[in-house]
Amino acid sequence: MSFLRKGSRAALTACILAATSTAASAQPPLLTPLPAPAAVNPARAELGRHLFFEPRLSGDGSRSCASCHIPSQGFSDGEPLSRGYNGTEYFRNAPGLLSVRLKSRLMWDGRGTNLVGAVREMVLSGQFMNGNAEIIVERIRQIPHLFMLWRRAFGESGERRGDQVFQSIAEYLTTLDFGRSPVDSALGGEGSLPSLADEGMRLFKGKAGCIACHHGPLLSDGRPHRLGVPDHAALVRDPLRTVSLLSHYAENGLANPMVERGDIGVYAINKNGGDRGSFITPGLRGLSHTAPYMHNGRYDSLDEVVDFHDRGGGPGSELRPLRLTAHERRALVAFLQALSPPLQDVAEPPTHEYLPVDRIRR
Ligand code: HEC
Ligand code: HEC
Repeated sequence: MSFLRKGSRAALTACILAATSTAASAQPPLLTPLPAPAAVNPARAELGRHLFFEPRLSGDGSRSCASCHIPSQGFSDGEPLSRGYNGTEYFRNAPGLLSVRLKSRLMWDGRGTNLVGAVREMVLSGQFMNGNAEIIVERIRQIPHLFMLWRRAFGESGERRGDQVFQSIAEYLTTLDFGRSPVDSALGGEGSLPSLADEGMRLFKGKAGCIACHHGPLLSDGRPHRLGVPDHAALVRDPLRTVSLLSHYAENGLANPMVERGDIGVYAINKNGGDRGSFITPGLRGLSHTAPYMHNGRYDSLDEVVDFHDRGGGPGSELRPLRLTAHERRALVAFLQALSPPLQDVAEPPTHEYLPVDRIRR
């Protein structure tokens, strides 16, 4: 019982991760085009869109989701390691959010099991926005335009709860999809890829073996793997990042967080020794917009990432050296680029003013 209470979230996640990683797949892994857009509640998604850009969800009003998930960068932030909330620094790269609805595991270490929960963590965690649900509800009541959108989304009367904020942002995220890439057109039998990218696709599925982990509509198996990506130097150099990392371990119930150095990934969540240093396989769409790469932004270019996989990864990696020729590596990069559609424009809502002080009812 005490075990359950102490680490119930981690224990639950561990069970789910273990179950997903042992489920044998009967069929060979495939590349599949993106599914049709999801059905959403338009009023909630619209409220969510406004809240996504709203800095007053953060404790000190300094940042919104869009501060770290920038639409013109595929909703990533271009930094190797993300900034944290004021006074902190984070220890991982901010992932892009397009088609995030299709992910079975969220966060690099897979601790997120659903979108609403991931949004809740982003808003409430002292590491990201340091928000407080009750204060957020009160602030929105004082912003007439947002409050009107809220009533439209959740009804004129009834209780206003922080959870409705998280739900509506998740609803907005559900509307964000990658556009169709040249690879989707080729898979759908409409047109063919340029010859170098086509060669890259054949290598990806064949000799280079990428498809073993990168398959399905996002090109991710959603499971943990260890490639031995070296830690980012800033993690060790910058005490604020080390503090964030060690407190993340402590919050997730790791027995001896202080002895750890470096990012142990999925192991901190599921405590499965075999997953030390593993990260959930990222998807491969839209990479032209989301450099730098890997859980810690160690590599600036796709060439570097392909070279790293070709070498068989770093210490303790599951990968084996591929010994591809320079031409084959270029072909793989061309295929990865053909998975990146141009970004669709995202309309950023205007800033909504607070109710003038003399109109606040007390
Ligand atoms: C201070 C920067 C920062 C802010 C602000 C921020 N995020 Fe994030 N977000 C991150 C980082 C970094 C991660 C990866 C965390 C990890 O894997 O440990 C992440 C992960 C996520 C994920 C999981 C993505 C995936 O592919 O697994 C979602 C969803 C998300 N954020 C949504 C949001 C939303 C919605 C907001 C606003 C409510 C928000 N974020 C605010 C930095 C930020
Ligand atoms: C054993 C499973 C596995 C195989 C096989 C594999 N990858 Fe990966 N790939 C991963 C994992 C896991 C990561 C993230 C590693 C990390 O951040 O520590 C990754 C990261 C990447 C990234 C960076 C994505 C991003 O958003 O940062 C690219 C690009 C990539 N792989 C391409 C390839 C290509 C091309 C091949 C074939 C040559 C391949 N992968 C083979 C598991 C695999």
